[in-house]
Amino acid sequence: MYTDNIYLGDCRDLIKTVTDNSIDLILSDIPYGISTEDWDIIHSNTNSGLLGASPAQEKAGKIFKKRGKPLNGWSEADKQIPLQYYEWVSSWVEDWLRVIKPGGSVFIFAGRRLAHRCICALEDKGFIYKDMLGWNKQKAAHRAQHISCVFDRRKDFKAAEEWEGWKVGNLRPVFEPILWFMKPYKIGGTLADNILDYKIGAFNENILERYNQKANNFFSIEAEAGDRGLHPTQKPLALMKLLIELTTKEGQRVLDPFAGSATTLVAAKQLNRHYIGFEKSKEYFDISVSRLKEQEAGYDSGRLSCV
Ligand SMILES: C[S@@+](CC[C@H](N)C(=O)[O-])C[C@H]1O[C@@H](n2cnc3c(N)ncnc32)[C@H](O)[C@@H]1O
Repeated sequence: MYTDNIYLGDCRDLIKTVTDNSIDLILSDIPYGISTEDWDIIHSNTNSGLLGASPAQEKAGKIFKKRGKPLNGWSEADKQIPLQYYEWVSSWVEDWLRVIKPGGSVFIFAGRRLAHRCICALEDKGFIYKDMLGWNKQKAAHRAQHISCVFDRRKDFKAAEEWEGWKVGNLRPVFEPILWFMKPYKIGGTLADNILDYKIGAFNENILERYNQKANNFFSIEAEAGDRGLHPTQKPLALMKLLIELTTKEGQRVLDPFAGSATTLVAAKQLNRHYIGFEKSKEYFDISVSRLKEQEAGYDSGRLSCV
């Protein structure tokens, strides 16, 4: 498999051609399994509060699906969703362990609701779970409903008054977890030995200043205008660059098996790292190819400015 390329297809097949111990960093924003888009439906449950077909759900259509209706807690089918997510992660993680170098890092953007299943799946297959980093997005849509409005609509004005100011739903979701794993190094060896052998396993605190961040495990980076419009879950380029610079040196190799619009790959390219990306959607693959081509010309459409 050639580096500095993105490949169209299922990452579970494509990764089979990647050589053992050849990748320095895996940085990936994987499907969160919360059914925000068709590619994000990781379960086989068609009879749930999440993707069911009640009259209200049918009427609301895609918007309802995108909002990810809260689970009711009583449906056996709904309860299988986290377990199926765990099984899905388990289906590809062995290859991640195989291709990454000992001491190499894996950063996974995982959703708050199912991140715990992702952690267990990687741990169960042999990764060391190092830390949960936090990304403070600073801005996020807040979807919580005034419960008094529901009672008003029912003309239950007594309940509406009693519950004035109360909401159902979640607080504003400005925090996103970034799960940090490491491939174990040689039995009986030390991390210092591993760093000398494989040139990987440490982090470079000095680069954080460039991103206006402290050496804390919580990064506040807001998406800029150029970080939107190519993919529904597009990540800020600066955040991906920070994570790459934190754990790799120039010339090392970064893999993103769920590349989307190639933000990780563009970040790697701008930092003189080699990259490999996989993406199964033709639409996002095409976007990635032209975004990477524009990089060759010194221009990134994702940032809408010359680099
Ligand atoms: C969360 S998005 C990544 C978005 C990316 N961070 C960006 O900035 O554009 C995950 C991507 O994984 C892709 N995907 C899902 N399952 C896949 C699979 N089995 N193989 C390859 N790509 C897959 C989806 O099409 C989607 O574009």
